[in-house]
Amino acid sequence: MSNLEILSRPILQIARESRYRFPMDGKDPLQVSHDARQPSINAREYLIAAKANDTYIDRFLDERGIWTFKEGQNIDITGLTPQDAFEILQPFESPLLDLSMNSLLEGHKYPVEGSDEPVGLFNDHTYLNHIQTTWGMVEQFMQMAGVEDMQSYTDAAAAVACHDSFNFLGRSDHNLDAARGVRRMFPNLTGGDKGRMRNIQTAIFLHNEIVYRGTPFNLKDRPFDQKVELMKQIHTPMSAALLLADKAEIRRGRVIPQALRPQIVDAHEHTRGNLYTDFAGLQHVKGTLKMTLNHNPWVEQNNLLYAELLDGKVDDQFDQIYAPQSLKNPDGQISMEKVYREMWGLYGPHKARDADRLSLMIAAGFVLFPDTEAFQIDYEHKYDAQKVIQREFTLDNADEVLGEIALAA
Ligand SMILES: [Fe+2]
Ligand SMILES: [Fe+2]
Repeated sequence: MSNLEILSRPILQIARESRYRFPMDGKDPLQVSHDARQPSINAREYLIAAKANDTYIDRFLDERGIWTFKEGQNIDITGLTPQDAFEILQPFESPLLDLSMNSLLEGHKYPVEGSDEPVGLFNDHTYLNHIQTTWGMVEQFMQMAGVEDMQSYTDAAAAVACHDSFNFLGRSDHNLDAARGVRRMFPNLTGGDKGRMRNIQTAIFLHNEIVYRGTPFNLKDRPFDQKVELMKQIHTPMSAALLLADKAEIRRGRVIPQALRPQIVDAHEHTRGNLYTDFAGLQHVKGTLKMTLNHNPWVEQNNLLYAELLDGKVDDQFDQIYAPQSLKNPDGQISMEKVYREMWGLYGPHKARDADRLSLMIAAGFVLFPDTEAFQIDYEHKYDAQKVIQREFTLDNADEVLGEIALAA
């Protein structure tokens, strides 16, 4: 079967048949497999071991770890404003996102001195931080793309509200868990409109790069123009806007205070990406899509714990807090090329034709704005206008440029 035939089938059906498994049928305990590196265990036992909030655990899972949450049965966002939908979903999604902030055991390797509170994620995924900011971006991108139907915006608000909640069970499949979970939690969300429900689920499902790295939609090793073509077949404006926004949503404001320690900043590319780079806007002018990122190497004195922990690196006004293994040339000058690569370290690419965050983000731009001829990213130094790296990606040159970025590592 060709890839095109595979992609023409409803994507959640494909997901069901693929390696993805979602044990949320109310009969079996929810299983957790944290980033596929640990054996599956019962979600209740897992959350207790992770010192998660008892009230939250009891609200969602019974004694055997079976999902018993029934509070969202009557929620219907049909006809609501996007803002109302976003606010109505908050009391349901917020607790799950809060759970994820301390339940992921990977983060527990870095205990906070003097605190029993475990850290799960180093980057803020809570409702009023990442979720709200992402929603603002999605709304703006859909407006820029000319989406007029108000219900699409309301449905997009719901997709954004729900897209990351199932991180509390693990990072790897959180998109699939959330796509299935939204229907389980809110079976009447679209007033019985199956097409709208499927669109919301699709947008949630397609936001995580893991989807594009294997069954069922392998985009790895494909030329960039083919990636865009294939993505056009499975994406809607809502899902493309969410993918583009979610990958561009990098900000210092997302790094939680407990992560502002050298051992975490040095070890985690995702933390570094957020710490040093702020998304600063997207413009669509004729055939050019232009994204601006700000590089901010400085931390204001007395503002951040991390600054106090770095001996001998404090000047009078600011603390410069580069991770030691990167970013500087031997002569001590900052290499913006290296900064650029560093900021996208986790986002990729690690090689040409990768299915990484950066490539997928750029491809999502081409999908959402079909008249795009060039996607330009300006990476500006926040305090030095002379320092800027400009990259331009077209359907023809994207693989080459992405390959150059990978080599700058
Ligand atoms: Fe996510
Ligand atoms: Fe997200």
